[in-house]
Amino acid sequence: MTIEFTRTPTSTPTSDADRAAKLANPGFGRVFTDHMVTITWTPQAGWHDAQLRPYGPLSLDPATAIFHYGQSIFEGYKAYVQPDGSIKTFRPDANGRRFQRSAKRLALPELPVDDFVSAGDLLIETDRSWVPDAEEKSLYVRPFMMATEAFLGVRPSNLVTFMVIASPAGAYFAGGLHPVSIWLSEEYTRAAPGGTGAAKCGGNYAASLLAQQEASANGCEQVVFLDAVEKLWVEELGGMNVYFVFDDGSLATPPTSGSILEGVTRDAIHTLAAERGHPVHERPVSIDEWRDGVTSGRITEVFACGTAAVVTPLGRLAWRGGELSIGDGHTGKVTQDIRDALLAVQYGQAPDTHGWMHAVC
Ligand code: COI
Repeated sequence: MTIEFTRTPTSTPTSDADRAAKLANPGFGRVFTDHMVTITWTPQAGWHDAQLRPYGPLSLDPATAIFHYGQSIFEGYKAYVQPDGSIKTFRPDANGRRFQRSAKRLALPELPVDDFVSAGDLLIETDRSWVPDAEEKSLYVRPFMMATEAFLGVRPSNLVTFMVIASPAGAYFAGGLHPVSIWLSEEYTRAAPGGTGAAKCGGNYAASLLAQQEASANGCEQVVFLDAVEKLWVEELGGMNVYFVFDDGSLATPPTSGSILEGVTRDAIHTLAAERGHPVHERPVSIDEWRDGVTSGRITEVFACGTAAVVTPLGRLAWRGGELSIGDGHTGKVTQDIRDALLAVQYGQAPDTHGWMHAVC
């Protein structure tokens, strides 16, 4: 049985004209819908007090644990308008399962996957007019969970809040789809064996920001991290997994061996690529193999993937003292083919042969 929600609709809904203006060019993560979901957890009562309520600020005690010790996790998935006008989400159950794994790692309570999915469904259904009906636009759904007990002792919080907000979204990178430039972080790492790299927790992203700043200072849009032990193996970008395309048509992506996020998009691409005649090898790829492979022509394309970035080509790799171009400045053929195949399933233009799409309303 899934949790029951009390529903308090906003008394000040966004006008049709304001919403249309916001949907015209939403960018990523700046515009939010009219409502949000909250569910509370305590050790005594478990998950309770599930609410759909107007989107708005939270009032939290300055001693609230999340502010101090960062005990929080999040997820991201998208809702798409289908050709018949209905709305579907892409693999929310996979996000719900990963959310449980993240919760476990951060000593947070596990929310049942059915409640995770129905909380998102309720918000999407309530704010369905916010799902953009336009090419390459979607509603980005952001579930998150945080320690909300006001207590400065270092231990798992005895009060936890789960929330879902939603944000109409266009392209993740400013300037739309284009091959992005990547800075190799040689000094900083993102995650270490035994750490939280495989969990989707705020701290991993906070840890990426200084390296991301270094990337920007060096004229790059994103940063790529190497493993923390040998500083040799490619792990992932600041917030995306990475795939390499080889001249024999095969693909490789680093294995998610505990320090890399198990991307839902990464996983779908594995299946879609194999179906299109591109065998995928999950194996370590060293930074030397990347550099040498691009130079020799053995690596023909490199792309990043994630819910927000979908499939984004990488056009340039730069490091202290050098750089190289990947491809010819355009999206590579295999990258484009896989991107198109994924988007076709998500927007209902191709059959959903894997049961990835979840009907919402
Ligand atoms: C995603 O694409 O799911 C991400 O994690 C990127 C997000 C942090 C903006």
